[in-house]
Amino acid sequence: MSAATTGTRPEDVFAGGLAVITGAGGGIGEGLARHAGGLGMKVVIADVDASNADRVARSLMEEGTQAWAVPTDVRDPDQVEALAEAAFAHGPVTLLVNNAGVEQLGLLWDTPLENWRRILDINVSGVFHGIRAFVPRMIASGGAAAIWNVASVAAVKTISGQAPYIASKHAVLGMTEALKVDLERVGAPIRVSAVLPAAVRTGIFDATGMVDTGDVASAEQERETMRRLLATGLTPAEAAAETFAQAAAGAFYLLPQPETGAGIMRERGEQLIARTAPVERRTAV
Ligand SMILES: NC(=O)c1ccc[n+]([C@@H]2O[C@H](COP(=O)([O-])OP(=O)(O)OC[C@H]3O[C@@H](n4cnc5c(N)ncnc54)[C@H](O)[C@@H]3O)[C@@H](O)[C@H]2O)c1
Repeated sequence: MSAATTGTRPEDVFAGGLAVITGAGGGIGEGLARHAGGLGMKVVIADVDASNADRVARSLMEEGTQAWAVPTDVRDPDQVEALAEAAFAHGPVTLLVNNAGVEQLGLLWDTPLENWRRILDINVSGVFHGIRAFVPRMIASGGAAAIWNVASVAAVKTISGQAPYIASKHAVLGMTEALKVDLERVGAPIRVSAVLPAAVRTGIFDATGMVDTGDVASAEQERETMRRLLATGLTPAEAAAETFAQAAAGAFYLLPQPETGAGIMRERGEQLIARTAPVERRTAV
């Protein structure tokens, strides 16, 4: 079932608010930013790529959305703190999406140390820095707010050749579940969600910054396979529409592909209960 059918309209929940989205200079983050603007939110575009952040913010402004580009590297807690400061200067932030993330392909034991550190710094610490900078300000503002952390179906599904990414997304999901109960404990009116996309048509496998493992030709072949898989996925706009619809309906686990996502979660649940080991697979994101 799509949460879009449950009757809570995203515009009723989100219009008039202020969204901050990391990694919004492209891909899924850009899709979420455009959708947020379309719903009547003001949007802060945070991305390490300043020119892409600027491009998205300008294009949103041309469409009548109040938007600001704030170049931010989520690996740096001071930059994320400055992002929060800059965002709250425009009003209380009602939606934070910790979306920035990177991939890397290769066998676990072949993973260069710098790739391991980069993936954990961006995918895991980046989310933590967002939570650390924004939650106290959201609580102090006293209003209702939401935080979405973008994990992946790789948070519940294991495939070969992507171990650091899978480890990072399991960590994001665990951190998101723990954040939810921490906020409940202090009675903060902040709704937390984990986003678990399957394939979305983005350039995640074209991003630079990772060092190739020894066998460059087979690394490129692997990337090509993943690019072909992503080409069969949702557009960022489709993923964003479904994500906002499910969030408006109050879901904790936001599945841009509801059927695929639910199937993967069911399989994971059954696997844990039956205590069967994962088997080698290479065809999921
Ligand atoms: N595309 C998919 O199929 C898919 C599936 C599941 C989960 N995801 C997740 O969705 C999120 C977005 O991925 P995408 O597919 O849109 O990738 P993408 O490469 O298209 O976009 C990622 C954006 O994050 C930015 N970024 C990278 N490092 C950053 C940093 N240190 N600080 C700030 N911004 C940084 C990039 O500049 C880029 O604009 C990631 O967390 C990814 O793991 C993607």
